[in-house]
Amino acid sequence: MKKLFIKTYGCQMNVYDSDRMADALAPSGYEATTDIDQADLVVLNTCHIREKAAEKVYSELGRLRIMRQKREQAGGKMMIGIAGCVAQAEGEEIVRRAPVVDLVFGPQSYHKLPELVERAHKGRVVETDFSAEDKFEHLPKPARETTIARGLTSFLTVQEGCDKFCTFCVVPYTRGAEVSRPVAQILGEAENLVDAGVKEITLLGQNVNAYHGEGKGGETQGLAQLLYRLSEIKGLDRLRYTTSHPRDMDDALINAHRDLEMLMPYLHLPVQSGSDTILKSMNRQHTAEEYLRVLERMREARPDIALSGDFIVGFPGETDEDFEATMKIVRDVEYAQAYSFKYSTRPGTPGAQMDNQVPEEVKSERLQRLQELLNHQQTEFNKSRIGSTMRVLFEKTGRDPGQIVGRSPYLQPVQVDADPSHIGTIQDVFVESVGKFSLFGKIVTN
Ligand code: SAH
Ligand code: SF4
Ligand code: F3S
Repeated sequence: MKKLFIKTYGCQMNVYDSDRMADALAPSGYEATTDIDQADLVVLNTCHIREKAAEKVYSELGRLRIMRQKREQAGGKMMIGIAGCVAQAEGEEIVRRAPVVDLVFGPQSYHKLPELVERAHKGRVVETDFSAEDKFEHLPKPARETTIARGLTSFLTVQEGCDKFCTFCVVPYTRGAEVSRPVAQILGEAENLVDAGVKEITLLGQNVNAYHGEGKGGETQGLAQLLYRLSEIKGLDRLRYTTSHPRDMDDALINAHRDLEMLMPYLHLPVQSGSDTILKSMNRQHTAEEYLRVLERMREARPDIALSGDFIVGFPGETDEDFEATMKIVRDVEYAQAYSFKYSTRPGTPGAQMDNQVPEEVKSERLQRLQELLNHQQTEFNKSRIGSTMRVLFEKTGRDPGQIVGRSPYLQPVQVDADPSHIGTIQDVFVESVGKFSLFGKIVTN
């Protein structure tokens, strides 16, 4: 058996893709390892979203170069591949900057991986074409034991690419145009997951709620219809989806939240900014008011829903007033959790050409204020659970002996002292206290 080591950066879609790369290489005799020293093939599955993320790849490649030298001195070999969004965005440039790389391949060519690796044994390969064929159709499904080993929760990509072209974002360039997988293909994959013991599936897409896949009769189905179909799979307990765009939160999807108990009441709905001027210049195609209105409808449909979001501070032209509007929308919404970033200028995006770039120290100061507020809200949200009973899916043993850990509907880690036989089941847990990240409680026996 040859050994494959994959290091994953970036979003959940890359996490999903890394597993699929391992699946693609399994028939060629590659087995996944977590020990890089054992690896015959090292793949960095990269992210291009912010400059820092992209630069990490090159510092890692510096380390890999030394590792490979040592390996070669000892008479061994190690192939190095770069996958993901930096591969797609930079292509040839990567091998110019880092000649140690043998293989560069973009997200649309993962199904060709066995062939690409074969070719890379003979000479360097750079493959960044957007393939015409259906990648998902050609990716082999994992062995049942592999899926079992991956755990009780799983990602499942249903949609890839983006047609929105927010002016700060590289995704439409690195992942290409929006493509939705056919309903039957997704149901088949979900059934295999559940058959291997998966209890919770998170549907993924850069714009997951723009999903418009082909149904059995050739008709187009939206995300809501897909969720109803998935909810019929016996043995599946929970459904989630991410990431959504506010523009695509239609009535059907909101109603699905009302109808489907197993659709978790936790929604990641990024707004990026609370200022209409900035939203317009970001090409988000909605106002702050429209976003709030979507949340209002959602809360009517599913009163226990909690929100998560993404924010960018220091987009070109952002004034103090614009930033205060972001602080205000955060106060209005009260997020359970959120990610916030300093705007990072990305090559090839319209934002990079804009005047009025915001100085770094202003960005830093704004980010700090925003994060303080968001952290406070997260703590308050966690604390508000004390004294309540929540359904928890137990996934594994905890750090301390006798402890098991699971996730609440809101993705909070929940730790209890209980028998490991509860792992793989959903239990009612009475929450007694909260730590920095986790909740603590006990299983309620009826
Ligand atoms: N498709 C998702 C987001 C994908 S990228 C959506 O539309 O919401 C994840 C997050 O990274 C974005 O929501 C945004 O907050 C952040 N991001 C994207 N480009 C960025 C940039 N150039 N600088 C800083 N943050 C960025
Ligand atoms: Fe990027 Fe906007 Fe598309 Fe999200 S919707 S992936 S932020 S361009
Ligand atoms: Fe990064 Fe690509 Fe995901 S740029 S955030 S890995 S889609």
